[in-house]
Order: sequence, then C-alpha cells, then structure tokens
Amino acid sequence: MSGRAARKVLVLNGPNLGRLGSREPDVYGTTSYEGLVGRCAEVGAALGLEVEVRETNDEGEMIRWLHEAADHTLPVVLNPGAFTHYSYGMRDAAAQRTAPLIEVHLSNPHRREEFRHNSVVAAVASGTVAGFGIGSYTLALRALAEQLTD
Ligand code: DQA
Repeated sequence: MSGRAARKVLVLNGPNLGRLGSREPDVYGTTSYEGLVGRCAEVGAALGLEVEVRETNDEGEMIRWLHEAADHTLPVVLNPGAFTHYSYGMRDAAAQRTAPLIEVHLSNPHRREEFRHNSVVAAVASGTVAGFGIGSYTLALRALAEQLTD
C-alpha cells in the first residue's frame, strides 16, 4: 500500500434511485440500491478512492450536497434522476463545481421518452456516462480516477 490517503468522492443520487432493485427492473435492473452502494465502494477502493454514496428525493438537499462538494473540492458522480431534465437550481449548483463532476444514468435517456432527451446538467459536467446500468457508475469512477491522476 502507498502512504497516500484515498481521495474522497461523492456519488449523489436523485429521486427514486433509492428504490433500485424494485423500481421498473426491466429499465433499471435488479441490483438493489444497497448493491449499488457496495459496488461503488468496492470499485472505488480498488481505484484508491474513498466513495460515499448518498440518495435523496429532495431537490434542496441535492443542491446543498453540491455546495458541500464545491466547498471541499470533492469530485462527484451524479445521477440526478428526473432532476436531470428540469432542475435549473441543481444545474446552477453543479456549475459551481471545483473538481470533476461526471453525470451518470443507468438507462440511456436518449433511447427513451422525448422529455428525457434533454439534460440541464450535461453542459456543466466534465462528461456523461449512460446506458450501462450499474456499470455507468463504475465507468464514471474509473474516469474520475484517471482525471485525478492527470
Ligand atoms: C435516470 C434516467 C432519468 O430519466 C430518470 O428520471 C431516472 C433515472 C437513469 O439513471 O437512467 O430517475 O437518471
């Protein structure tokens, strides 16, 4: 083990994502939210990242978490759920980021209903990973790890 402390990363999930596993499994898969948390922690640890996973159905709480990330220079993996498509408040909070922020989606919103085709966050994110189920999160963590060592 190197002596370097693991870099902290926040994985932030918006509305309905706490219901993973039972929520529309044909769209979002059968892995539970707890399974997602475990997988992110496991992959993060292998990448030298200390991953903290949170979920909220509350737009204000999500905005406060993004402020916290900005104030502490914390990289973020963000699945905004439905906030993706309409929350300018969340978008403005994400725009204040002081470290990389990667937007993720389990599904590929572009293959779905028209209202999902627009993301108000995409333009202020470092990048977006969508359509790979839980793999979207682990790919985003890998991308972050690479960005943080550049
Ligand atoms: C989602 C896609 C959004 O359109 C939807 O509202 C979600 C989940 C995804 O991970 O595929 O809640 O962000």
